[in-house]
Amino acid sequence: MKEFLQDKIFSIISEAADEQQQECYVIGGYVRDIFLKRPSKDIDVVIVGSGIELAKRVAAKLGKKASLSIFKNFGTAQVKLNDLEVEFVGARKESYLRDSRNPIVEDGTLEDDQNRRDFTINAMAICLNKDRFGELVDPFGGVEDLKNFVIRTPLNPDITFSDDPLRMMRGIRFSAQLGFFLESNTFDAIARNKERIEIITKERIADELNKIMMSRKPSVGFILLEKTGLLELIFPEVLALKGAETKDGVGHKDNFYHTLAVLDGLCEHTDNLWLRWAALLHDIGKPRTKRFDSRLGWTFHNHNFVGEKMIPDIFRKMKLPTNEKMKYVQKMVTLHMRPIVLTEDEVTDSAIRRLLFDAGDDIDDLMMLCEADITSKNQEKVKRYKSNFLLVRQKLKEIEEKDKVRNFQPPISGQEIMETFNLPACATVGDIKMRIKDAILDGIIPNEYAAAQAYMVQVAKELGVAND
Ligand code: CTP
Repeated sequence: MKEFLQDKIFSIISEAADEQQQECYVIGGYVRDIFLKRPSKDIDVVIVGSGIELAKRVAAKLGKKASLSIFKNFGTAQVKLNDLEVEFVGARKESYLRDSRNPIVEDGTLEDDQNRRDFTINAMAICLNKDRFGELVDPFGGVEDLKNFVIRTPLNPDITFSDDPLRMMRGIRFSAQLGFFLESNTFDAIARNKERIEIITKERIADELNKIMMSRKPSVGFILLEKTGLLELIFPEVLALKGAETKDGVGHKDNFYHTLAVLDGLCEHTDNLWLRWAALLHDIGKPRTKRFDSRLGWTFHNHNFVGEKMIPDIFRKMKLPTNEKMKYVQKMVTLHMRPIVLTEDEVTDSAIRRLLFDAGDDIDDLMMLCEADITSKNQEKVKRYKSNFLLVRQKLKEIEEKDKVRNFQPPISGQEIMETFNLPACATVGDIKMRIKDAILDGIIPNEYAAAQAYMVQVAKELGVAND
């Protein structure tokens, strides 16, 4: 494996470890990523001795180019060199108490250190000492598992997951990221130990969920979360989408699988994490709005608005950011049916202007979400929608070029209305403002100051706040 350790940093670590006369290895994700051909800048080094001492030696050899940080409490140290980050730690043996993620740590051998790791593919080590430089130490068949696309724990999975339940999420996340299979014992152990996820902080769970969301096909992760029973514990609102009920011979689609199809479809076109979240949550209001009507069949009236209202609670509970990112997700969820409705009716200029006004700069994202939302198996239907979508897109472009309503600011402010008609701040001021906005969006007057001012006077007369 020498050819993969060409970076000068490895020969420097090798020299320092030999001076310390202790075994030293590069281990974990860096080794895994060599095999996966994913060059990484994070290097974990383990020494059978003091990681801090080794880091100090390495930093001294590198001189001013490098920066050294020591975390005495954890017995670890980090050396940064340009964009490389090298973590140094002594080989350790860990044992866990049942209610805590914090292990009792003792010095150990390389074998102890490999035993305590999460998956076989993450437990491989490459020796850095001069006489064994480049030798792979792979006691659990990590290379074989990489070849067979398998995620498996090195030891009894019940112990590995009970020691650190976050690993259940990590295993599913790696499956989604790498397109690997969860080996059956590993899968069963997640199902058995799922309740232990309770001791993991929401932030760490959200971190893993975001990594699943950013994978090429997030459905792989969500289906595993569902099948192992973790989804019920960490995200019941998404699980509630599952199931297809039939009444009087009328069924509706399973919104869980539909949602995942929308999410996967969208992911082919964008890396925008928050648009991906919007896809996951676009129908989140459906279970709460589901009704059966003998005439209409299954309905989900206002599920977009109900969904929008559910999002702040979900984000707060899951420790996702409750800032403008969340507002963006809410906006996408509220508006997600608007473009599709447009394709069903005749596309009027007024409806296009309103959509542009409501979506603003996010119109292209909204269109992308809405197109991904077409998951019908009826190819004729899909074809029709897609061609109507082209029409809507073309219209959006034409109207925006002509009327510039995408970032529309009302040409007349509330202040101006109050001053012109000597009004206090009151509902009438809001009414006049709204009527001007509507007139512009409906194309009754152009989006210009003079026209808006004349229209303001006309409305004020109608409302009896201005004289003829
Ligand atoms: N590890 C573990 N259990 C965890 C977290 C990490 O056993 N809950 C071990 C694994 O050997 C892992 C290594 O620590 O390879 C480094 O962890 P980390 O940097 O978090 O993850 P990577 O495996 O490098 O992958 P990623 O950066 O994608 O999380």
